Amino acid sequence: MRLGGKVAIVTGAGSGIGQGIAKQLGCEGAKVIIDYIGSEAGAEETLKTIQNCAGEGGGEVVRGDVTNMNDVRCLVDEAWKRFGSADILVNNAGMEIRSDFWDTTEEEYDKVMAVNLRGPFFLAQAFVRRLRETKKPGRIINISSVHEDMAFPGFTTYCCSKGGMRMMMRNLAVELGPLGITINNVAPGAISTPINKKLLADKPKLDALLRNIPLGRLGTVEDVAAIVAFLASDDASYVTGATFLVDGGLMRNYHEQ
Ligand code: BGC
Repeated sequence: MRLGGKVAIVTGAGSGIGQGIAKQLGCEGAKVIIDYIGSEAGAEETLKTIQNCAGEGGGEVVRGDVTNMNDVRCLVDEAWKRFGSADILVNNAGMEIRSDFWDTTEEEYDKVMAVNLRGPFFLAQAFVRRLRETKKPGRIINISSVHEDMAFPGFTTYCCSKGGMRMMMRNLAVELGPLGITINNVAPGAISTPINKKLLADKPKLDALLRNIPLGRLGTVEDVAAIVAFLASDDASYVTGATFLVDGGLMRNYHEQ
């Protein structure tokens, strides 16, 4: 199997895109640390799916809040304790809060930045420290968004965090390359997941969004997971410092009405 013998840590793997990624990596042979914060049942379901396609011991469910530095360290430590090391870190956990710029509170700003940028920064740091100690190569894959580059009015905190994630990735590609550690971003567009359940329930808004997507449909978690598995595999060993759009063409779309 493509990821046989590898160990992956996936944050936010109890639902949505993270759940899809953890299942895909696990079903391709990786042992997976399945991090969750709210959805224990979802995380257990992720583990069951992996065990059903890859056999016993395909992973471990760990509750860890990426905004808590102790949890961040424990998540990485757990991979070493349980499986002896780790090869792949997927910084997936993320959130968004809609609010006009002039109404945005410090709490909203801090929360979004802590989950979407501070967590991935320090998780990557804890992972890299471990790899350096043991002189091992590694893969870091961040789930950012088309909004690491494209404006999203009403979501400035989200765009700040994802734009920050883009520059974190570019910087670390240079700094970590000599250690044999690659880092890339996967930038989903509109994917059908709990993060946008409000939008999915609002037909006029959803139809307007679909008109902006050249491929004419929302993405699925499997669409995103497929490219993450590629980036985690040996096939991508010369790929670092790049963002991969998975957006059905959304980012490139422009029409004169
Ligand atoms: C956001 C979604 C949004 C999509 C396309 C994603 O990053 O989480 O809320 O619909 O980008 O704009």
